[in-house]
Amino acid sequence: MHIIRFEDIDSTQEHAKRITINPPFVVIADKQTAGRGRYNRKWYSPSGGVWMTYVDSSDGLVHPSIPLVLSFAVSNFLEREGIECLIKPPNDVYSKAGKICGILVEYYKDKILAGIGLNVNIEYFPHYINASSMYIETGKKYDLEEIINLLIQAIREVIEIFKTHGFKYFLADMKNKMDIWNKEIKIETTSGWFVGKVMDIDEDANLVIISTHGKPFIINLKEVVKII
Ligand code: BTN
Repeated sequence: MHIIRFEDIDSTQEHAKRITINPPFVVIADKQTAGRGRYNRKWYSPSGGVWMTYVDSSDGLVHPSIPLVLSFAVSNFLEREGIECLIKPPNDVYSKAGKICGILVEYYKDKILAGIGLNVNIEYFPHYINASSMYIETGKKYDLEEIINLLIQAIREVIEIFKTHGFKYFLADMKNKMDIWNKEIKIETTSGWFVGKVMDIDEDANLVIISTHGKPFIINLKEVVKII
């Protein structure tokens, strides 16, 4: 895997767009000065995290479930490291003390840019950020090189499986890692707020919901801004 490495960069996601070599490749930075999350939110990116963008051809990878599939890969990796976590649609991984990883998937020209922000050795976050890190969860400091290699391996694995078997391959295991079932939740979408109980996720990445009035409806993951 071709890895392009920086000490400081604006955003690995933006830099990935400026690179013209053929994918797959990965852009990694120790720190980002303009790291960003979904909907252009700022992403806190001091040294001590893994800030990377995995770039591949978008062939076979254009699907609204991809951010969730990548969250699943990260959560499996974290569990192998002894950190229990949950995935929260559409794109987050939460450990006990808060959000530990965020995923930002974008399509640019004929490529997929999978941005992954994993809080590894970060000890404290500013008071306005409710987040966790591998260090906060375990009290251990990690070798970032090792984490990067394992993470790239975990991502490549799910991408290959996705290309061959599609989203349905992951569904059952993934549902066990979500804490959204059978309770009333609020969903912010690109067209407003909805309240209801999530009963299922289908192969097209639709959340199957029953409204508070008992009416079934679906919301596609690509429209979900956040779930609370
Ligand atoms: C989110 O939770 O909203 C997604 C956060 C994604 C952050 C990563 S860090 C590496 C890559 N570069 C960025 O500027 N953002 C993504």
